[in-house]
Formats: sequence, C-alpha cells, structure tokens
Amino acid sequence: MDGPVVIVTGGAGYIGSHACKALAAAGVLPVTVDNLSTGHADAVKWGPLERLDLRQSDALAAVMRRYRAGTVMHFAASAYVGESVIDPALYYDNNLGGMIALLRACRVAGVGRVVFSSSCATYGSPDAMPITEDTPQRPINPYGRTKLMGEQMIRDHAAAYGLRYAMLRYFNAAGADPAGDLSERHDPETHLIPLALLATSGQRGALQVFGTDYDTPDGTCVRDYIHVADLARAHVLALRHLLGGGDNLALNLGTGAGLSILDIAAAIRRVTGQDMPWTAAPRRAGDPPALVADASRARQVLGFVPEHSAIDTILAHAWPHFTKRGHDELCA
Ligand SMILES: NC(=O)c1ccc[n+]([C@@H]2O[C@H](COP(=O)([O-])OP(=O)(O)OC[C@H]3O[C@@H](n4cnc5c(N)ncnc54)[C@H](O)[C@@H]3O)[C@@H](O)[C@H]2O)c1
Repeated sequence: MDGPVVIVTGGAGYIGSHACKALAAAGVLPVTVDNLSTGHADAVKWGPLERLDLRQSDALAAVMRRYRAGTVMHFAASAYVGESVIDPALYYDNNLGGMIALLRACRVAGVGRVVFSSSCATYGSPDAMPITEDTPQRPINPYGRTKLMGEQMIRDHAAAYGLRYAMLRYFNAAGADPAGDLSERHDPETHLIPLALLATSGQRGALQVFGTDYDTPDGTCVRDYIHVADLARAHVLALRHLLGGGDNLALNLGTGAGLSILDIAAAIRRVTGQDMPWTAAPRRAGDPPALVADASRARQVLGFVPEHSAIDTILAHAWPHFTKRGHDELCA
C-alpha cells in the first residue's frame, strides 16, 4: 500500500499513536493533527505532527491539501464517560464541534474517506449479549451520544456528498505496543487495566471494584478487552477495504470474549506473580453489567482476527509500563 497519506486526528493519543505505527508499517504516511490536550508529542514517531485544534476547520483543510491526503482517521475526541456526565458542554463542543469542522474540511480539501473511532458506548446497556452491529444504539451518557451523533453526521455526508466511511466501534482498548515503543498514558487514568496494574505495583491504592452483585458469573462487571495493536491493524484493514472500493462499514472491534474484573485479577497474578489489591465499592450509575462484542462481522468483511488480545498477552505488554520504574519513566 505504498504512497497514500492519511491524516490522523488524535495521533498523539493512545490508540491513534498505535495506529500511526501500523500505518507506517503498511507504507502509509500518517500525518498527525493533534492539539495535545490529552496526547503526547513524543508518541508521534512515524510521521509529522501538525499541532492544531481540529475545530480550526480552515487550518485543518490547509493541512489536508498540503499533504494531498485522501483519507482521514478520526481519533481525536474527549473520551471520559464520567466527565461527559459532569461537563456535557465540553463533549458536545469537542466531539461534535470537532466532527462538524472535520467534515467541512474534508469537503473543502476533497478528502473522500473517513475512518471514525466510534464506541461500544453507542449501544448503551443492551438487553442481550453479545452485541451485534444491529443491536439498537441507545447510548446512556453524553459521551456515547456524541459518538452516535458523529456516526449519523458521517452517514448523512455519505448520502449527500459521497463521502466513504468505516465506523469502527471499539470495545475496551488495552495493552501496549508489543515492541515497547508506545504505551497507554491517560491523565487522569480511568481505564480498568492500567488502574489494576498501578494498584498491583503499589503506585495507587487498592483497585475499587464498583459493584460485586451484578448478574454475572462472579458478580463483577464483564467487558471485552481488545489489544490496542489489534485495533491499530484493523484500521489498516479498513483503509485497504475503502481504497479497494469496498462498501461503507460499521463494525464492532472486540474479541467476543467477556472477562470480569476478578478474571483480570487472576490473569494479573498469572502474568506478574503478584496479587492485585482490591476493595468492593457500590455500583456506579450507568455501568452496564456486561458489554461483549459479537466480533464476527469484522472477521467476515475485513478478515480481522485479533492476534494479541489474549488477556495474558495484553497484560504482559502493558505491565512494564506500570511497574514503579516504568511508570516513573513514562511520567518523567
Ligand atoms: N480507549 C478506549 O478504550 C476507547 C474505546 C472506544 C472508543 N474510543 C475512542 O478512540 C479515540 C481515541 O481514544 P484514546 O483512548 O486514544 O484517547 P486519547 O485521549 O489518548 O487520544 C485522543 C487524542 O485526541 C487529541 N484531541 C482531543 N481533542 C482534540 C481536538 N479538538 N483537536 C485536536 N486534537 C484533539 C488529544 O490530544 C489526544 O492526543 C477516541 O475518539 C475515543 O472516544 C476509545
């Protein structure tokens, strides 16, 4: 796939930076557009960094033109569910304001393809598992609503202006680059696996387990964890699909395997040899008991099969970044 240029909004963030590495390995130049609000300049290693807020639509269109880009991968967003409930204005402004500006820039600069970071949060709390792409999308928080509205805006632009798209609905991204070049650095950290590893290495207090009385095998919440390097590879496959003239897509990206928090604790013991300290806390409002993907459509359409998403592999790749030494280096 030599030659194409892809604009990667949010390429300095966790998933976007891993996608840049995968794109570069596939012969694509990833041009990161990022305002560094939650991202890190030193994670942009495989192409240029254009430090820009994507809501500056004219400047974004100028970058697209300068690099003669034909595709945008749109990772940039505010992505904390809890924060979206406390400050929804921020989420509508950044995620929807960002999407409006991005779609406008695409039209102005003639960028005809978009790969969008959507989320299992668009499904809310469905009655039946696993979640297929046809499960009704009924988000239960402002973050999920911005992602669903983003999908709808893209569909409307496809119908009216011929934009081509892949909507990729990630389940829980986890792990770190297998070669150790990149890692997960959210601040504040709210994702379960980093919090669990920080508790295990003594960087944080015991992990608070919100709800131990759910209707799940051990009473704790069940989620579908997918390795970030697998997610990154799925983006390359989606790009190839669109470049090859394939149909527009909306796909779940998960593994189809649900793991409870106590399953994660057991895996941490296997991988690190240490116990994860945890305490039981009351349920949090809006936490569905289980979110597990039916991952078959991505396999059928893109030939996507996760390679690194066994939980022990995810933990083995993440753990070095969350030991005391690793964490001090990351945060230096
Ligand atoms: N992490 C997950 O498990 C998960 C699950 C489902 C969906 N997603 C989605 O994937 C995407 C990436 O998530 P992440 O975990 O890598 O988050 P992240 O915070 O690490 O990355 C987001 C990046 O976007 C940049 N950004 C934000 N607003 C911007 C703006 N207005 N202009 C320019 N840059 C801006 C940030 O600086 C950051 O580099 C997000 O859209 C998120 O909603 C993530």
